[in-house]
Amino acid sequence: MTKILQPTQKNIKICSNEILKGELVGFPTETVYGLGADAFNTSAVEKIFKVKGRPQDNPLIVHIGEISQIKEVAIDIPQVAYKLAEIYMPGSLTLVLKKKDSVPDVVTAGGNTVGVRIPNNNIARKLIELSCPIAAPSANISKHISPTTAEHVLDDLNGKIKYILDGGKCNCGIESTVLDLSSNTPTILRPGAVTKYMIEKILGEVDEMHGEVKIAKSPGMKYKHYAPKVDSILVETVQDAKDVYAKKGKAIVLGLKSFVEQLRTLSTYSLGETSKEYMENIYSALRYAEKKYEYIIIQKLEGDGIEKSIMNRVEKATNYNMYIGERNECN
Ligand code: TXA
Ligand code: MG
Repeated sequence: MTKILQPTQKNIKICSNEILKGELVGFPTETVYGLGADAFNTSAVEKIFKVKGRPQDNPLIVHIGEISQIKEVAIDIPQVAYKLAEIYMPGSLTLVLKKKDSVPDVVTAGGNTVGVRIPNNNIARKLIELSCPIAAPSANISKHISPTTAEHVLDDLNGKIKYILDGGKCNCGIESTVLDLSSNTPTILRPGAVTKYMIEKILGEVDEMHGEVKIAKSPGMKYKHYAPKVDSILVETVQDAKDVYAKKGKAIVLGLKSFVEQLRTLSTYSLGETSKEYMENIYSALRYAEKKYEYIIIQKLEGDGIEKSIMNRVEKATNYNMYIGERNECN
């Protein structure tokens, strides 16, 4: 049986001891919940892969409590890393840096770089302070949707770990931006709430990895992530949502309040009024929808900021299934 613990000092201490003993703990961050192990303990980190069913070639992010700890895991840290850290750390930004020898190969999937992040969540940072740097992926079964509440973690991992620290709902809602600083040109490997524009304000132009990654640089990117258990599709307009809904059995439409309000006779779920709220609610909504419905119709968001990062996840969730309907593309 897995226990959900309130984040009291005493319970955080119990969980930090669990980490130091070489066991795993579910814990909150501002992005999604993590499944943590002592980053320097090979057999503890191996348990993460086993519990999640995660492919061995997908490296883990090491979570630290403050910027001074970065030297415990990385070497040759470029000045730009500190520049970014000053503004966006703690926050949903992971930096890929050259790894220190003492970081076990199992964490980095045998590579010579390590992903490092400082979560913007007091419970997570306290847990790290009382234990050590924590290697953690999202606390879901591999290929399922990332968890944004303690209950989501329980749904996926019940019986497989002893404790989950309950930090309530994650207020960011999608996984961190992964930025590679280990080679000459900074490159965004995974978009997130810290957007390209926000990074370029500090660094000037950065590259962005597109599509499926086949090279060893970021093996994790080649896997299908974030998928609900039932089929889903993206739609652009209210009419498209109606058209798809009419053709499907037990379907639900997820979208902004203004969108779903135009679909009153259909089953719908409001993701909130803004892109930020959409981001915060999308994973919860997908988990809710997959339990009760047979098909999920999701409103596409337009925009160049966080909207692009959110759509990166939703496109993966739908397996790049986009409704184009009867429209004439020339109109
Ligand atoms: O917000 C987050 O990043 C959450 C919370 C728990 O911190 N963590 C998370 O971990 O999303 P995970 O394992 O689900 O995703 C980490 C991604 C993977 O796609 C992985 O391939 C990539 O980061 N990654 C980790 N270390 C890397 C490295 N050294 N080089 C390139 N990519 C790396
Ligand atoms: Mg994940």
